[in-house]
Amino acid sequence: MGVHITPVDLDEDLDIQAFHHISAVTRATDVPDFPELTLRETIGGLRYPFPAREPHQYLARLDGEPAGILTLSLPLTDNTHVVHVDLEVRPDVRRRGVGRALFQFAVEFAHAKGRNLIMGDYGTHIPGGPPRDPGHAAFAAAMGVSPALPEVRRRLDLDTVDKDAWNELTAEARARADGYTLISWVGAAPDDVVADVARLEGRMVTDAPMGELRYEPEKYDTDRIRGNERVLELRGDRHYHAAARHDSTGQLAAWTMISFDPDTTTQAWQQTTIVDPDHRGHRLGMLVKLENLHHTVAHEPELRYVDTWNAAENKHMIAINEAIGFRAVDGWVDWQHDV
Ligand SMILES: CC(C)(COP(=O)(O)OP(=O)(O)OC[C@H]1O[C@@H](n2cnc3c(N)ncnc32)[C@H](O)[C@@H]1OP(=O)(O)O)[C@@H](O)C(=O)NCCC(=O)NCCS
Repeated sequence: MGVHITPVDLDEDLDIQAFHHISAVTRATDVPDFPELTLRETIGGLRYPFPAREPHQYLARLDGEPAGILTLSLPLTDNTHVVHVDLEVRPDVRRRGVGRALFQFAVEFAHAKGRNLIMGDYGTHIPGGPPRDPGHAAFAAAMGVSPALPEVRRRLDLDTVDKDAWNELTAEARARADGYTLISWVGAAPDDVVADVARLEGRMVTDAPMGELRYEPEKYDTDRIRGNERVLELRGDRHYHAAARHDSTGQLAAWTMISFDPDTTTQAWQQTTIVDPDHRGHRLGMLVKLENLHHTVAHEPELRYVDTWNAAENKHMIAINEAIGFRAVDGWVDWQHDV
């Protein structure tokens, strides 16, 4: 019978359950320190895609049994040459050709959609970190993809971090940040800052190191930010923000966000942090991050771990994260492949 690939039918409970089972068991096996993936989260991801992205999900069956999943996501307003690929195979049926079949499917899909580059990522072990399956990198090499951007995930443990050091860091940073006022909010951005959030979010691809990745700046405007916020609300994600406002112009000079998956109270994701290039050198990155950690913990008292990814070469952001107490856990490689 071999490998048979079909689209996920979002009206079919069995498809959704199979998709969820593979996704959850893969996560628990490959990155056991991530929080457990819940069915609600899987359903939220399937039913409520972010605007400006067109997702297509597939299930691979091996001899009739669900064995692998594939999400192919098409950027619609920028990067229209790209397909994002997320490919996972149930750990107990690996090395039987399911991954290869899904990868080939992704390549053919990209051709059919007129896109010439596929992109994805995989996790790796780093010295001193927990073990990681070297099969992911071996698979990527076997598929002939090019590693394009090495990243490192760091984790903050709020139970063990030195919070006195945070007070010193905040005092030092404030001394350099005259003329800026810190603000924070929960969930959707207030109307008077949403355009600035869009401007800052749109700079991420320009300002953060992208290695060899052939990825254009993303186009963000107020509508796209509002669309993203609606999706987070529908999924049940919670998100907390802090920003620095430049007093004399009223513009946001720096912004950062921490988000929680719907059923998790002990672990969160440190998302975008960005300082406008015109306002660098005032320790605003450090200030907004620390402010947001305090702000988040005030609303989420059970929070223990915060995870963040940085390009391995992103020295400035990494220095801030290390000073706050984030520590390296594992490596992640963004790859790309011409099709
Ligand atoms: C990576 C992954 C998708 C591979 O799935 P799979 O079904 O086991 O892959 P295949 O059986 O089709 O393997 C294809 C080739 O990849 C290479 N490969 C795969 N796993 C390997 C391993 N553990 N060790 C060495 N080579 C490996 C081999 O060359 C293999 O061909 P061969 O078996 O004929 O020698 C799977 O391990 C997985 O789900 N990992 C977690 C998610 C992930 O990292 N996804 C992104 C991948 S870029």
